Amino acid sequence: MLPIALAVIGGTGVYSLADLHDVESHHPDTRFGKPSGPIRVGRLLGQRVAFLARHGEGHSVPPHRINYRANLAALQQLGVSQVLALNTVGGITDHYGPRVLGCPDQLIDYTWGRVSTICEGDSQDSADHQVLHVDFGDPYTPLLRQRVLAAARVTGKAIVDGGCYGATQGPRLETRAEIARLKRDGCDLVGMTGMPEAGLARELGLQYACLAIVANWAAGCGDDEEITMAEVLANVQAASAGLAELIAEIARG
Ligand code: HPA
Repeated sequence: MLPIALAVIGGTGVYSLADLHDVESHHPDTRFGKPSGPIRVGRLLGQRVAFLARHGEGHSVPPHRINYRANLAALQQLGVSQVLALNTVGGITDHYGPRVLGCPDQLIDYTWGRVSTICEGDSQDSADHQVLHVDFGDPYTPLLRQRVLAAARVTGKAIVDGGCYGATQGPRLETRAEIARLKRDGCDLVGMTGMPEAGLARELGLQYACLAIVANWAAGCGDDEEITMAEVLANVQAASAGLAELIAEIARG
């Protein structure tokens, strides 16, 4: 059996991978508990790819309750070494309007109260009792980011290269003042699930990159009086056209 070339974690509005064929479903348990749902492994345009819906396939797990550790450990147990995180986000700066795809290179973590490390002393696995101080200067794996950008060129998909992802607590959206603060801090994008996922991936030794899907202008950045879920889902769906080709090309590497 071919190894899994790439795992994809889908965010809000992306609960499955269209075009994934010959699918086997895995329901793994991990030393951190159970992941958000089944892991679907199959062939995507010739590449062996795994898919996991971060919030569960029925979007039942809110951002602060996701077992990020179990999700990543479950993928690792299946032999995955590269993870592409799809994150549905709000756009803050001009390059990141609705329906844009981006591949950020920095992040700022505003989340709180989440289990953000594998070094908690609560695992049965003695390897996790070693305290890790991993380097996180570049929170996304530069080589995998380059593969994402190269795949975008090959498939003709426009992707904004770089930017800073601000990870907020949710599940509510932000106030205008909170977004103004994120903008002053240098954030280009805002989402609720970028952390602790990226940090945990680094601790677990996984290559990890984010493909951000802009669903709306963040509060106060566009003309919207109100951000609606209908708008978010419609924009994610529109921006996801051609995603299968892009993902297969990233997996092809
Ligand atoms: N803020 C935070 N997370 C989001 C947003 C937003 O505006 N849109 C989609 N996910």
